[in-house]
Amino acid sequence: GYAGPVQPSGRPLDVVLEGLRRLEYRGYDSAGVALTVPGQTVVSSAKKSGKLVNLVDELAAHPLPEAVAGIGHTRWATHGGPTDVNAHPHVVDGGRLAVIHNGIVENFAALKEELAAEGVTFLSQTDTEVAAHLLARTFREVGDLTVAMTVVARRLEGTFTLLAVHADDPATVVGARHDSPLVVGLGDGENFLGSDVAAFVSHTTEALELGQDQVVTITATSVDVVDFDGEPAQAKRFSVDWDAAAAEKGGFESFMDKEIHDQPQAVGDTLLGRTDVDGRLILDDLKIDEAVLRSVDKIVVIACGTAAYAGHVAKYAIEHWCRIPVEVELAHEFRYRDPVVNEKTLVVAITQSGETMDTLMAVRHAREQGAKVISIVNTNGSTIPRESDAVLYTHAGPEIAVASTKAFLSQITAAYVLGLYLAQLRGNKFPDEIALLMDELRDMPRKIQTVIERGEYVRSTARSMKDASSVLFLGRHVGFPVAMEGALKLKELAYIHAEGFAAGELKHGPIALIDEGQPVFVVVPSPRGRDSLHSKVVSNIQEIRARGARTLVIAEDGDDSVKAFADEIFWIPQVPTLMQPLLATVPLQIFAMALATAKGLDVDQPRNLAKSVTVE
Ligand code: G6P
Repeated sequence: GYAGPVQPSGRPLDVVLEGLRRLEYRGYDSAGVALTVPGQTVVSSAKKSGKLVNLVDELAAHPLPEAVAGIGHTRWATHGGPTDVNAHPHVVDGGRLAVIHNGIVENFAALKEELAAEGVTFLSQTDTEVAAHLLARTFREVGDLTVAMTVVARRLEGTFTLLAVHADDPATVVGARHDSPLVVGLGDGENFLGSDVAAFVSHTTEALELGQDQVVTITATSVDVVDFDGEPAQAKRFSVDWDAAAAEKGGFESFMDKEIHDQPQAVGDTLLGRTDVDGRLILDDLKIDEAVLRSVDKIVVIACGTAAYAGHVAKYAIEHWCRIPVEVELAHEFRYRDPVVNEKTLVVAITQSGETMDTLMAVRHAREQGAKVISIVNTNGSTIPRESDAVLYTHAGPEIAVASTKAFLSQITAAYVLGLYLAQLRGNKFPDEIALLMDELRDMPRKIQTVIERGEYVRSTARSMKDASSVLFLGRHVGFPVAMEGALKLKELAYIHAEGFAAGELKHGPIALIDEGQPVFVVVPSPRGRDSLHSKVVSNIQEIRARGARTLVIAEDGDDSVKAFADEIFWIPQVPTLMQPLLATVPLQIFAMALATAKGLDVDQPRNLAKSVTVE
């Protein structure tokens, strides 16, 4: 949303479109805008299914007039398919009111019936249109868009961010927030609204984070916040430290390519400022009594997608360093199975966006049961850190490509820091042991850089495999989540069937999948490890090779034992096994990206996916 000077201009449309471009990663199956022009009885709008470029083409063919305010939206369909008519904004009331919405209105069927009984006809299949008609009706009754928004917000169930503009009040944009995110950008003679600061960070770095259940009204020169009862409310002011350039491709072919190359920096930045003057590890925003953390008897890691695989790595590290049992669970499963959590449970929520609805609901559930929640989050000012008892920010910067890369490595890094922090707090490790492990971690950016520099061999292998129809990934110990992440990347980007298995599980079933030429990646642990893990994995490679598999092996520099059984070897520098995921994941990311690119696919915006899934 944008509200600017009284003199109509092209700026509202330009700002809104640029914001949409920066937010397109959140969902992109259709896009639309609505603008207000003083003196006009209707809003001006355009919307188109497909990516933002379709809307831009439509606007070039049918330009909109100069305006003073506007709203825009990119959609990831929930109710109703991705068609022109279901795209937002929904313009109702004879063209006078336009509404955009993120989230799901769960009671839309009942509201639709109520409105239909009054003679309202619906053009789309969306839940949003119901909210739009309700707002139009309420506006006719109360004559004020802010008041109307509070009334409507109280009636809606589910999750929503709503923005609206009305032809009768052209200088104003009104927004409401319940569970879905909404931030205000504070400009000079203009103000902004966005789901994420990325929408306006090139115009202003001063922002307000709306609280839960608040309505905001912006004009060029004012920002007013009330709660859903219409009472004045406080929103938290903050400054955005992201450089707008960090959200640009910086010369790379894709955001994903750039973000893979950002990884040494992302990991390095995540390690910055982790120690106090006495050299002790610290968390960013600790609101938990340390005595409570000492008494924790179980840790549950909750997350979704790639972040959940970071959680698997966290389990191996935290259990090893802290001797506390750690469970890892997908947030959506955790929330709905009546999990055993109590005051002695520490829940660790891992999320890049800080907005994943499944994870947020799991966090709330855990806290209701008395558990303390520490979140590992990349996006400052997002919802999950605000609802957590402590936060560890990953400083990966904005991640734009839908499939996560640098956020994943920084999540793993933050999880190591958390593990070491708990080990320090609970006395499981001596300070000098912790310092040595931190030194190892601080050396990781250099080693990640080495793996990236060896990327061309991975890319050429990927190009040669662009017709593969199935690829398997094997790993053990921390190599297991790496295998699952490698498979997920390939599914997401290249739309190829891919599975990650624990290598030890191979003989219990998956080995039946192996036949002549089946490509199988194997993540080989360090040969310098404590036990026979390495030799077990080497045996696994022999077993599949004997059955015809084409073996693509990720192994440590100097590990000659794999040479005889590998069709291709992707070498990585030597590291302690627990930290190997920070290196072993990188060739798999590059492989998936290169294979998808060779197939002519869009690696930044894979089909059907959204970067932050803000619906359950
Ligand atoms: C979506 C994305 C995944 C991501 C997951 C969790 O499904 O497509 O790439 O891993 O959400 O996102 P979060 O923001 O919670 O880390």
